[in-house]
Amino acid sequence: MKVTAVFRETADTTSFVLDVPDGLSERYSYRAGQFLTFRVELDGVTHTRSYSMSSSPLLDERMRVTVKRVPGGVVSNWMNDVLAPGDEIAATVPTGSFVVGGDDGEVVAFAGGSGITPVLSIVKTVLAGSDRRVRLLYANRDRDSVIFQRELEELADRYADRLAMTFHDDSERGLLGPETIRAFADGSGQGEFFVCGPEPFMDCVRKALAEAGAEEARVRFERFTPASTVAVEPPEQTPPEQAPPVRVSIRLGRQDVSGELRAGSTLLQGARALGLRAPSSCESGSCATCMARVVEGSARMRNNEALTPEEIDEGWVLTCQAVPTTPSVRVVYE
Ligand SMILES: Cc1cc2nc3c(=O)[nH]c(=O)nc-3n(C[C@H](O)[C@H](O)[C@H](O)COP(=O)(O)OP(=O)(O)OC[C@H]3O[C@@H](n4cnc5c(N)ncnc54)[C@H](O)[C@@H]3O)c2cc1C
Ligand code: FES
Repeated sequence: MKVTAVFRETADTTSFVLDVPDGLSERYSYRAGQFLTFRVELDGVTHTRSYSMSSSPLLDERMRVTVKRVPGGVVSNWMNDVLAPGDEIAATVPTGSFVVGGDDGEVVAFAGGSGITPVLSIVKTVLAGSDRRVRLLYANRDRDSVIFQRELEELADRYADRLAMTFHDDSERGLLGPETIRAFADGSGQGEFFVCGPEPFMDCVRKALAEAGAEEARVRFERFTPASTVAVEPPEQTPPEQAPPVRVSIRLGRQDVSGELRAGSTLLQGARALGLRAPSSCESGSCATCMARVVEGSARMRNNEALTPEEIDEGWVLTCQAVPTTPSVRVVYE
């Protein structure tokens, strides 16, 4: 994709407008809330990272992604510092399940920091494409961290009768607490809920919504960082299991490692336990950052929202979701 424009949103956040190559517009069509996974080669190392569209498929002619710097982060800083209009960047087709499912009831969204990107796309698409009411609670560390302040205020003016928006400023009011969340969500039980932000923020909203009686199936989460629950246990420390361990050998770049993997562990856990810095992003089966090919043996994916049937036929798996189903497996990250 070609970068056609770059906008500095805040001191540490930049938006990139992207042009889809001729003939690919259908493949790159997307739903509000979805993301692209970019492949960036820096100093001979390939990095894959996902970024959600902050544009609306209904309103914006071109796709836009918005990237906030992560301290010490390789790709977010490179994009903020180096990626410029006229540059080209490789990206997978859009994917993701953080999308509107119904067509009635209120849309109630909670965004923290850069979590506003997919949420903005959803909010403006719903407002423009339906007569649904929307509530948005947007939390930030401080005033200067607010991304899209003007765009959001314009939406609030334009849809004053249907959009209720609250900005939460941690520096003035402390971290967002469950009472504020419950009060904000009050009376929206039949709505659809969207939550995206740092993990502690998402946990707090999850608990408060459950206490407020929001049905679990109505709440969608988008995780920007790998789940902290993805524990990695080196094979030698795993307790004895009834099922025998699986023999895995894994190639990543020039590294070739092998060892035993506790039955039930994923290939990604195995790769890490064997000392590889295997790529991953969402760790929930939706971004394809962790894909690799099983070239011997087989593995079953617990969840797959990213690979096509053809890719699966070719042996590709999402290693964050793939659990070996044969006593030995050979995996190649290509
Ligand atoms: C589905 C999906 C959509 C995403 N959409 C967006 C988006 O629209 N805008 C956006 O800015 N980012 C988004 N991200 C996050 C993005 O993919 C990268 O993870 C992030 O930019 C960090 O990459 P990096 O190469 O700079 O950091 P890395 O070099 O990968 O990481 C450096 C350090 O920071 C930690 N870290 C990684 N990501 C984060 C984070 N988000 N917050 C705090 N610490 C982190 C790592 O654990 C590591 O310790 C999304 C992620 C996913 C999975
Ligand atoms: S890390 Fe996203 S699908 Fe595996």
